[in-house]
Amino acid sequence: MNSLQHLLENNLNWANTITEEDPEFFSSLSKQQSPEYLWIGCSDSRVPANQIIDLPPGEIFVHRNIANVVVHTDLNCLSVIQFAVDVLKIKHIIVCGHYGCSGIQAAMDDHEHGLIDNWLRHIKDVGRFYADKLNNLEGDEKFNRLCELNVIEQVTNVCNTNIIQNAWKNGIELSVHGWIYNIENGILKDLDTSITSAKQIEEKRL
Ligand code: CO
Repeated sequence: MNSLQHLLENNLNWANTITEEDPEFFSSLSKQQSPEYLWIGCSDSRVPANQIIDLPPGEIFVHRNIANVVVHTDLNCLSVIQFAVDVLKIKHIIVCGHYGCSGIQAAMDDHEHGLIDNWLRHIKDVGRFYADKLNNLEGDEKFNRLCELNVIEQVTNVCNTNIIQNAWKNGIELSVHGWIYNIENGILKDLDTSITSAKQIEEKRL
């Protein structure tokens, strides 16, 4: 007896529903993917990329990690960005954070969390970079602001990769956006930090 049988049944029902509506859906999608968007979001189970922007399979390329961090030496994330830009020719990269992010919360406390503390160092760095914007805040206000500032910092990190820099140098139209998701009401907010060229990086920096 497969204890995950209910998930396989869910899958079969889902696939059948789509095929009933559009018999060619899977066969045409199987030939190629041509998404316009790359999503870099948190692994949190409450923030599923396709569902919250209501897009079907094939429309968005996705990378998720704890607290949606873009680290200059993370080959996994960099490979996703390179493939998305150079091969899939996506037009928009969305870095999406969320309020109530437990990764951000863990980075704010003084407890030990094991291996992940090394990953969360990057969030602590964001806290240090923006100390002047955070030090006069407390509690949830500080927590929420760090969730937002982390998105803004990761947008800058995406823009500073040689992948994006070279794309812009070669005249490719590509925008990098920063959004934040409210897990209490399901609403996304644009943090007004979209960058479409190398010279905008400094202009948009807080
Ligand atoms: Co999170």
